[in-house]
Amino acid sequence: MAATELYIGLMSGTSIDSIDAALTRCTEQGCELLATLEHPIAPELRRDIAAISQPGEDEIERLGRLDRDLGRLFAESAQALLATTNYQADEVAAIGSHGQTIRHRPPSAGNHTPFTLQIGDPNTIAELTGITTIADFRRRDIAAGGEGAPLAPGFHAAAFAREGRNRAVVNIGGIANITLLSGTLLVSGFDTGPGNTLLDHWIQRHRDLGYDRDGQWAAEGQVSMALLERLRDHPYLTRRGPRSTGKEAFNLAWLETSLQQLPALQPRDVQATLAEFTAETIASAVGDAEISVDEVFVCGGGARNTDLMRRLYRLLAKRHLATTAELGIDPEWVEAAAFAWLAWRTLTGLAGNAAAVTGAAGPRVLGGIYPATGVRTVLVK
Ligand SMILES: Nc1ncnc2c1ncn2[C@@H]1O[C@H](COP(=O)(O)OP(=O)(O)OP(=O)(O)O)[C@@H](O)[C@H]1O
Ligand SMILES: [Mg+2]
Repeated sequence: MAATELYIGLMSGTSIDSIDAALTRCTEQGCELLATLEHPIAPELRRDIAAISQPGEDEIERLGRLDRDLGRLFAESAQALLATTNYQADEVAAIGSHGQTIRHRPPSAGNHTPFTLQIGDPNTIAELTGITTIADFRRRDIAAGGEGAPLAPGFHAAAFAREGRNRAVVNIGGIANITLLSGTLLVSGFDTGPGNTLLDHWIQRHRDLGYDRDGQWAAEGQVSMALLERLRDHPYLTRRGPRSTGKEAFNLAWLETSLQQLPALQPRDVQATLAEFTAETIASAVGDAEISVDEVFVCGGGARNTDLMRRLYRLLAKRHLATTAELGIDPEWVEAAAFAWLAWRTLTGLAGNAAAVTGAAGPRVLGGIYPATGVRTVLVK
């Protein structure tokens, strides 16, 4: 049993935009957000992560280096977060580090040997911070026959479920995922499809901007119905049951094939269409849900995309749409808080996955525990 209740969550998602670090106090009663920090990722490192996320040359050497480099950066972000507070490292029970996903091949995608890989060496994090580190949360779920994703729904349920309400919590990160809550019951959760990833990559290619701030560029364009109809044909969108996806399935190469044989479209019209497609896939997940959803709460960076939120609002008809700020957690910090919560679950011996979500054979305590440097017993006589 942990001596303290302080947990740090570290999240670096598929957008590779920054490391989100959150200090929380987690107990049976829930997780309280105490401090947060957005830690930058240097452009060269971002490029290296993006490169290793695709098959290429000399992968083991590059992977080994990146794993250590990211471990160091994650440790640095935890330390920088603590430096903004009056807490010391020895007061923190554990760091929950998601790691950087560089490949996600879940069973639902028909992979013969499903696997998922997150890097950012937890040994290095524990060594540099002196804080017990928990990492590699997804692979145990995969080993138990699950998707390894999404893992946030358990936290969404713990933090946002309310008796008598049918709620959907939608995290719009690189990929978007939804959690369906009927009262306090976690009904299901899955990736809906793209979140910001297509929008980010298209504007990066055409305008040399990291992302479409507030969706301004998309808002200037016109939706192309011809392109939208092709995008709707993506095979992921007809899957049912436990499912998860990644940039392996939604990327510019796939978009290029959808753009073939279409009359030349203005890049901004493509951006508008991608925004509409993203909103539509999320809204369909809400509309097709096994529960009748009354309220939708959005978190993740996409919550700040005004254009995307406007499209979602229109497609959700009369349902209440807000960000998780309305429920007490700023949308930017929900995922980092979820990994602090998962670390608390693991250290307390509680399952972190929801089998109804991931399709795993059952509940499992997730992740590996990399103890802090304090050694209590020495093996030498
Ligand atoms: N003001 C904004 N306007 C438009 N988009 C924004 C804005 N702020 C953030 N974003 C989008 O949010 C993205 C980052 O979101 P987030 O950090 O939730 O994703 P992520 O790192 O992929 O996380 P995860 O995969 O864990 O959910 C950016 O890449 C950008 O596309
Ligand atoms: Mg991010």
